[in-house]
Amino acid sequence: MKVEMKRLSVDWLMEIIHLCIERIVIVDRDGMIVYIDEAYSEFIGVSFDEAVGRSVQDVIENTRMHIVAKTGRKEIEHLQPINESVMIANRYPIFIDGELVGAVGTVMFPDPDNVRHFQNKMNNLMEELNFYKKKAVNELTSKYSFDDLIGNSHSFQAAKTLGKKVAGSDSSVLLTGESGTGKELFAHAIHQSSVRSNYPFVAINCASIPEVLFESELFGYEDGAFTGAKKGGKEGLFKVANRGTVFLDEIGDMPLSMQSKLLRALQEKEVQPVGGPKTLPIDLRIIAATNRDLMKMVEEGTFRQDLFYRLNVINIEIPALRKRKEDIEAISNNLLQKLERKFYRKGTSFSPEVLRN
Ligand SMILES: Nc1ncnc2c1ncn2[C@@H]1O[C@H](COP(=O)(O)OP(=O)(O)OP(=O)(O)O)[C@@H](O)[C@H]1O
Ligand SMILES: [Mg+2]
Repeated sequence: MKVEMKRLSVDWLMEIIHLCIERIVIVDRDGMIVYIDEAYSEFIGVSFDEAVGRSVQDVIENTRMHIVAKTGRKEIEHLQPINESVMIANRYPIFIDGELVGAVGTVMFPDPDNVRHFQNKMNNLMEELNFYKKKAVNELTSKYSFDDLIGNSHSFQAAKTLGKKVAGSDSSVLLTGESGTGKELFAHAIHQSSVRSNYPFVAINCASIPEVLFESELFGYEDGAFTGAKKGGKEGLFKVANRGTVFLDEIGDMPLSMQSKLLRALQEKEVQPVGGPKTLPIDLRIIAATNRDLMKMVEEGTFRQDLFYRLNVINIEIPALRKRKEDIEAISNNLLQKLERKFYRKGTSFSPEVLRN
């Protein structure tokens, strides 16, 4: 390291200091200024040449640099009044080869305007944070009921009736059907009609979570479990959903390694946060959905059979729209109404030619 550093010229070092620190002063053991940067000298109203070589006490108000240069004890975040402003000062002793040779000091926030600016910025960020926090909580409730599931065809009504019937039980439900058949709506509606409706509904899209993050997202992690992990650890989505329903959307996209961990959690009714020895009990109802053929995946070895049976306690197959064309008109009208609300329009309808086709 030392050898590498020697390759940096003084010019480089000075430029790096300027880029990293504003307002810096360096004194020797006797408290004499050996260096002061332009921003600092300008702020206190002296030139570089006037300041260097003088005692720091004569140049900077309320300084303690000469003390740090004597005691060798650093002082962090000290309030220091200068020019009728309160500055935040950090003062460090400089040791070279174990010998105390001087001290370096920095100050921040040259004027109250700057402090106010930071305060405003912080306040705005806090407001934004609260907004998202509230939003996150709102999103933990189900948004649709069975009344929002449109369609009078026999096959669709049958799926709906089955959904209503099983909503009250605590059994796992596997929703299957092609893309766009409304699997997500079914999951919401089942939760809303269940005894768990006052507890969270947490939807997890298994296709959108990177494999390496699966375990920590679902089960959480302990403080310091891995580099970059948030301090204090993080609660997993399963814990967030406790006593409610977890909707595992696109379950066919869950990696095999994760499938075993999911199965274990469902069997034991507990999760083990990453990096932690203790397990947390969880009480969940699982609704899973996929547009893939899980049976085929089981045969091919890409989906665990035991997990499949655990999820597929009740299977609701939602028929594709092209197999129940009579529902198209009602769903289209429903969509049109939603769009009207979105664009503040009223009284739009489909022309007869559109409906005939
Ligand atoms: N029967 C229905 N009644 C009302 N809206 C419906 C119905 N079926 C589908 N929709 C609407 O169609 C859209 C797609 O539905 P959804 O997202 O639930 O499909 P999906 O089965 O989850 O599809 P994918 O497999 O692609 O995820 C949604 O915006 C939903 O509002
Ligand atoms: Mg979906």
